Amino acid sequence: MFALKKTEIVQKILGERVLPTDASGEAYAPANIALCKYWGKRDPELNLPVNGSLSISLQERGTRVSMAPSERDTLLINDELLAADDPKHVRLFDFIDLFRVDSAPALRVDTQSSIPIAAGLASSASAFAAVVMALDRAGGWNLFARELSILARMGSGSASRSIYHGFVEWHPGVLENGMDCFAESLYLQWPELRVGLLALNTDTKKVGSREGMNRTVRESVLYQCWPDTVSRDLAEIRTAVQERDFTRLGAAAESNACSMHATMLGCRPPLLYWLPETVETLHRVWGLRNDGVSAYATMDAGPNVKVLFLEREESALREAFPLLDVIQPFASVEV
Ligand code: PMV
Repeated sequence: MFALKKTEIVQKILGERVLPTDASGEAYAPANIALCKYWGKRDPELNLPVNGSLSISLQERGTRVSMAPSERDTLLINDELLAADDPKHVRLFDFIDLFRVDSAPALRVDTQSSIPIAAGLASSASAFAAVVMALDRAGGWNLFARELSILARMGSGSASRSIYHGFVEWHPGVLENGMDCFAESLYLQWPELRVGLLALNTDTKKVGSREGMNRTVRESVLYQCWPDTVSRDLAEIRTAVQERDFTRLGAAAESNACSMHATMLGCRPPLLYWLPETVETLHRVWGLRNDGVSAYATMDAGPNVKVLFLEREESALREAFPLLDVIQPFASVEV
């Protein structure tokens, strides 16, 4: 059996629909933070994950993308023009090429991000989700959310979840073509929930999440424990969210994040995204908990820490971390 190509999936979803020569469109997608993490692929070409995951979208923190026909492909990130051989330019237009046939135009793509790029703060998830949504508008395709999710997933796995606001679950699926591998909204509100971002170090990371997870699957014996860990954590996190049980949610999310990082430490040589300030922050969060403040930490493929807490703890958290960027995932704000 030959591996399926991304272009075949795009064709399956778009059918006769194409990108018109005057294609232009704009869209916004939020960044998301996984409460139960995606780490490892069952198919690296289509970004099909080994396990399901569950996230919370960051409302006004995300990426706005606008695109319009242009003489040549051009990418601007936060008003800065990228060279045509810049890896971000190449990765984005390789992705956009999946949607362009014959007479499709060269495009100028303008992205404005309200979240630090490539520092484990999920900027690529919101960028790829917004690109797919902007293409959908530019083409007048009116795709279903789950189709947008499948397409965004092929740009970056976690982008499948950034199609939605609020709590989102990404199903791993079992099909080889990934048509059952998409994210869905859980349609649950939790207005008191807060996510605090601590940008401890925003340098571009040395090992991207794609390489990091591929290495872990390949090299780490500890990865064998991961699928079982996730089945337990995912069920627990889903229930905790449904029951608005914050202690249960925080404890399971923090443990899931630490277990994911533990799998990376089993690589040879070990892979460690944490910096001294990551560890220091973890101890401070645990210290707060000892003092009765209900706060939990989660970390992605980078050194930065996200703190989960409820509205009533906000002043204690701001006092402990003056630079904390507090997000209200369920606030109604203009994005
Ligand atoms: O979507 P990617 O390839 O950037 O991988 C994201 C991986 C984690 O952020 C570490 C976990 C997750 O579920 O978002």
